[in-house]
Amino acid sequence: MRLTSLSFLGLLLLLSVDIIYCGTDYYSVLGVSRSASSREIKKRYKQLSKKYHPDKNPGDKEAEQKFVQLAEAYEVLSDDEKRDIYDRYGEEGLKQRSQGGGGFHNPFDIFASFFGGTGHFGHHQQSERQGPNITMELEVELKELYLGAQIEVDVSKQVICEHCGGSGAKKADDVITCNVCGGRGVKVVKQQLGPGIFQQFHSTCETCGGVGKIVKSKCPVCKGKKVRRGNEQLTIIIEKGQVDGGTIVFEKEGDESPETIPGDIIFKVNTIPNPTFERKGNDLYAEQTISLIDALTGFEKNMTHLDDRNVLLKRDKVTQPGFVQIIKNEGMPQFRSQSKGDLYVKYTVVFPSVIDDNTKQEKRFNVV
Ligand SMILES: *[C@@H]1O[C@H](CO)[C@@H](O)[C@H](O)[C@H]1NC(C)=O
Ligand SMILES: *[C@@H]1O[C@H](CO)[C@@H](O)[C@H](O)[C@H]1NC(C)=O
Ligand SMILES: [Zn+2]
Ligand SMILES: [Zn+2]
Repeated sequence: MRLTSLSFLGLLLLLSVDIIYCGTDYYSVLGVSRSASSREIKKRYKQLSKKYHPDKNPGDKEAEQKFVQLAEAYEVLSDDEKRDIYDRYGEEGLKQRSQGGGGFHNPFDIFASFFGGTGHFGHHQQSERQGPNITMELEVELKELYLGAQIEVDVSKQVICEHCGGSGAKKADDVITCNVCGGRGVKVVKQQLGPGIFQQFHSTCETCGGVGKIVKSKCPVCKGKKVRRGNEQLTIIIEKGQVDGGTIVFEKEGDESPETIPGDIIFKVNTIPNPTFERKGNDLYAEQTISLIDALTGFEKNMTHLDDRNVLLKRDKVTQPGFVQIIKNEGMPQFRSQSKGDLYVKYTVVFPSVIDDNTKQEKRFNVV
């Protein structure tokens, strides 16, 4: 009781010190260290902004605030100059620098710069198209499924060009409204079918390709294509007991494009066969070889489990060839549960290839 209140006091003290000296700690908002790389910062932002997005937490004011803070933290820490000022002079330093304008961008715009569209999740705006999902097989050791694991993967995908922010233009004001179609992307075409008979129809504007905008000068990095080949580093968390064929989904991490919301990256678990254990549901199956004498007189021997622990195999009765011993709770952990399956050990008895005279004699006494 005393300990609890003491540590609570300590926490209060820490918090107030934080507030007095540092203002918002952008590093802890993103949950990264002060030496975090820009890649790490980007990765954390993407991860957390999806989690706290207001569309995913309707009516939750705290999540909304966190979403705004994340965008602020990302905006500061992803810009080398702002990060440097923040590191040296804190939030006050940034405020002074941005006096007379500046401030922060709309958090939904920052979200949209990664995930496309208007910065919202698809189901709110039916009109926003979602790109295709990317499905990949993930080869996993049985040991990793038993213990749980973290796997780092590098996924090659299409990303929005960060130089032009997906506009395809050299400068922002190089994107102008198409004057042929007036920005509508379609033109009205009148065709004479016969004397006095006209048909009017809409066709895609060739000048702007139906986009309604024309780019006067192309971005030198993506050559006007708005996107480039890139990669994404993902940390896959394999939970204990994850099933074979189970999926791990990274929402909106598929190919990026300025017009659509990225699809999901979906990893499908594929278990690499283990030489000792075979998994069936939550149970494990293994085989053990014992000598004839052990089969007859009983034995104690250790078997190394997937976590390198010794599991004692013990018999004090006669063990018939092919006998299956069930060891309770030594199977696979059940996915998102505390319970475990069982271990089934099947015994193979090795017979001697020769037998000496003494042993032969004993036959008379019905020992064997
Ligand atoms: C992509 O996967 C999600 C589940 O992660 C699913 O709900 C959605 O329908 C899939 N989209 C397509 C285009 O297959
Ligand atoms: C089995 O392993 C345990 C420790 O892991 C050890 O104490 C025990 O002596 C071993 N038994 C046999 C029969 O090897
Ligand atoms: Zn046009
Ligand atoms: Zn570009």
